[in-house]
Amino acid sequence: MITREIRLAAHVTDEPGLDHFALAETEVDGEVIVRTDYVGLAAAYLELMRADCRIPVPAWQPGDRVGAAVVGTVVRSDSPDLAVGDLVQSMTGWSEHSAGPAAQYVKLDRDLFPEPSYHLGQGVTAYYGMADVAAVGEGDVVFVSGAAGGVGSLAGQIARCRGAARVIGSAGSRAKAAYLVDELGYDAAFDYHDGPVADRLRELVPEGITVFFDVVGGEQYQAAVQTARPGARFALCGSLSHQLGGGADRFPEPDRAAAQARGIELSPFSCHHTPEQVAAWREHFTRWLGEGRFVFPQTIVEGGIKEVPGAFLSMLKGSYRGNVAVRLA
Ligand SMILES: NC(=O)c1ccc[n+]([C@@H]2O[C@H](COP(=O)([O-])OP(=O)(O)OC[C@H]3O[C@@H](n4cnc5c(N)ncnc54)[C@H](OP(=O)(O)O)[C@@H]3O)[C@@H](O)[C@H]2O)c1
Repeated sequence: MITREIRLAAHVTDEPGLDHFALAETEVDGEVIVRTDYVGLAAAYLELMRADCRIPVPAWQPGDRVGAAVVGTVVRSDSPDLAVGDLVQSMTGWSEHSAGPAAQYVKLDRDLFPEPSYHLGQGVTAYYGMADVAAVGEGDVVFVSGAAGGVGSLAGQIARCRGAARVIGSAGSRAKAAYLVDELGYDAAFDYHDGPVADRLRELVPEGITVFFDVVGGEQYQAAVQTARPGARFALCGSLSHQLGGGADRFPEPDRAAAQARGIELSPFSCHHTPEQVAAWREHFTRWLGEGRFVFPQTIVEGGIKEVPGAFLSMLKGSYRGNVAVRLA
């Protein structure tokens, strides 16, 4: 079958742009053929597009299809494990169709979530970081950086559902800060461009934070250290301000001296999406959705395969909220 895919045209060295991607036709064939319904977009993909990728998984090479997470529908199957019409998830990437052995697809329960695109959310990471790494619970005062993004928009809600006393978030605009409070249940939120972050935190949480879920690093990390209570737990998930904001080091060492002086427990973590981690997130997510205690913050971009690179770049620039997916079918 002839299909269309997005390839990496060149490694990203500095700022990513449309010329790093190319739309191409290709032929796919295999035991199973899947129509891609949604492709998920995540900030971490930018790292996989760099020649000096620092994430310990194989980076994408020029000419490769961008191999991101997708959900799709089986349209042909010679496998007893998958039937036409089954919903599946895979890392087959930015293409209208994929093909291969049945083993490269994970069969999903179509009825588990309201929409198939929910399977592309970053909840496994957010849940693992909040529940297992930070062990957030009753009475915690929580600060989430990057709180309107894919991981962050779920992390704050998880803290709330696990009994946190107060949840504060930061985001890149006042509109996003209002969204956190009005729609995601944050107690307070601020635009990190509005003056020193440490000042905002002292105003909003004079009692000091006990948990920090960090996807941004930089000034927000420093401010959290300055306003943390002794013994606070920091789940260090990402470093967007370095990854996306430019500068020499995309993954800087956190300043440990100030954290040590306050007895802060620093926990950089990597979520590997083990079956147990996936199951824990799904169990809690479906329960909280059913109880009406949780919303799934999501932006669906329309326009098909040709829109995917532009949507990815817009996502990195902060044009969207929540988990971002492009609808292909
Ligand atoms: N540890 C793990 O296992 C793990 C797993 C998944 C992801 N991650 C990491 O978690 C982080 C978040 O991933 P995500 O996919 O959820 O990304 P995301 O937060 O959805 O990333 C897009 C957002 O980045 C923000 N942004 C753009 N430029 C920025 C800058 N200069 N400083 C601060 N924020 C900026 C924008 O939000 P604003 O408009 O609010 O600035 C934008 O909406 C990434 O660092 C990723 O690598 C880690």
